[in-house]
Amino acid sequence: MSPVALSNLVALAVSASLAAAQITGTFPATPLASKGPFAYPTGIPYKVDTDVGLIRGTQIGYNICNTTTEGQQSLCQTSFLNSLDDFCLWAPPEMGREVGDIEGSMIAWCTKPGHGTRLIPDGALHGVQFTKTPDYVQVVGFIDQTKINILEGDFGGEMDPHGADLRGNPMGGIVFTNQFGGNFIQGIEWHNFMGSNTFCFKVCDPAGPSAADYCEHIFDRIGCAYNAPNNARNGTFESCDGESQDFPGIYTSNGQVLTYTQPPETLGPITTIPYTARVPASSNCREFESAAIYTGLPSASVSTTATSGTAAPTNGSGSTSRSTTGTSTATGTADGANASTDAAGTIAISGAATFLGVIFSALFLS
Ligand SMILES: *[C@@H]1O[C@H](CO)[C@@H](O)[C@H](O)[C@H]1NC(C)=O
Ligand SMILES: *[C@@H]1O[C@H](CO)[C@@H](O)[C@H](O)[C@H]1NC(C)=O
Ligand SMILES: *[C@@H]1O[C@H](CO)[C@@H](O)[C@H](O)[C@H]1NC(C)=O
Repeated sequence: MSPVALSNLVALAVSASLAAAQITGTFPATPLASKGPFAYPTGIPYKVDTDVGLIRGTQIGYNICNTTTEGQQSLCQTSFLNSLDDFCLWAPPEMGREVGDIEGSMIAWCTKPGHGTRLIPDGALHGVQFTKTPDYVQVVGFIDQTKINILEGDFGGEMDPHGADLRGNPMGGIVFTNQFGGNFIQGIEWHNFMGSNTFCFKVCDPAGPSAADYCEHIFDRIGCAYNAPNNARNGTFESCDGESQDFPGIYTSNGQVLTYTQPPETLGPITTIPYTARVPASSNCREFESAAIYTGLPSASVSTTATSGTAAPTNGSGSTSRSTTGTSTATGTADGANASTDAAGTIAISGAATFLGVIFSALFLS
């Protein structure tokens, strides 16, 4: 791991260490979160990260993505979060290393052809909740992460446009959405947790008053339940409206508004957190069958299985066959009313357990 692949906690100390770091050539002239907003699509540079000679090397991929780059070899690092059936996740270009070690090199894997990216293989998604609130859009879900090159059992980590050295994870990664006004605009503040066969990805309205707070990036060790509290259920694909959550790390106890401080990794795994994040109400949820909304995805067999080094991914062009195995059974009630007794409740509980696994995992590196 490179010296700058430190915990996001380092970001808290950035102001103190900035001067020294600049002397050693660690920081870019312009942090990723201060680049743009780029006009879509004509204002996007080939590579957003043009910094050379810094410790983490150069941006692995590119940001101009089109039909030429589309396919399972794409190194596109321009991502989208538009809707339940049209979003991307950050995942590795090849199998073999833990997310925490390669957050800077993640690329876009999308649910829909047309963005010039890789496609999440058919059947990999097991349940997704898309939520739009006055302040952000968010997808939270369940995925077979091995189908997007994340190792079995990997607790994963957080991607965001900050990182200890301010070049972002992934370096040069940018995100667009058409959910704030209709046209594609760059979501300056966003975060995406990947791991434990779960994910959450939130893009904050750049025109909103608190985008950086809702898309806070410093709570990288406490996972989706605290950074994107949600009602997502495994086996259910739904699109909802919602109220906005509390800012990550901010909670109310006995009428007092308190701020959680994430302990440094040197103190070991996080075993207790003094609060449970409030799950904001969702409404107007519409359920879908996955086979009806995720069309045009390649079969899982074309996902890459390269194991090391610079091995080229397999050529994924051509196949659009979809498996028909039952990943789309949307069990359960929309409101979870019978959650303690029916099958959906069992599934929901196992989902919660998984998020706890994310919460208490030890290694979320920035
Ligand atoms: C398509 O994307 C590639 C890679 O970024 C770029 O080199 C090429 O100019 C793009 N083509 C068009 C027509 O924009
Ligand atoms: C979600 O459900 C699928 C199908 O039942 C199961 O294989 C998978 O392990 C579940 N995922 C999680 C994260 O619980
Ligand atoms: C991938 O397949 C396409 C379509 O057959 C072909 O045009 C392209 O050259 C192939 N790329 C590689 C790297 O083999």
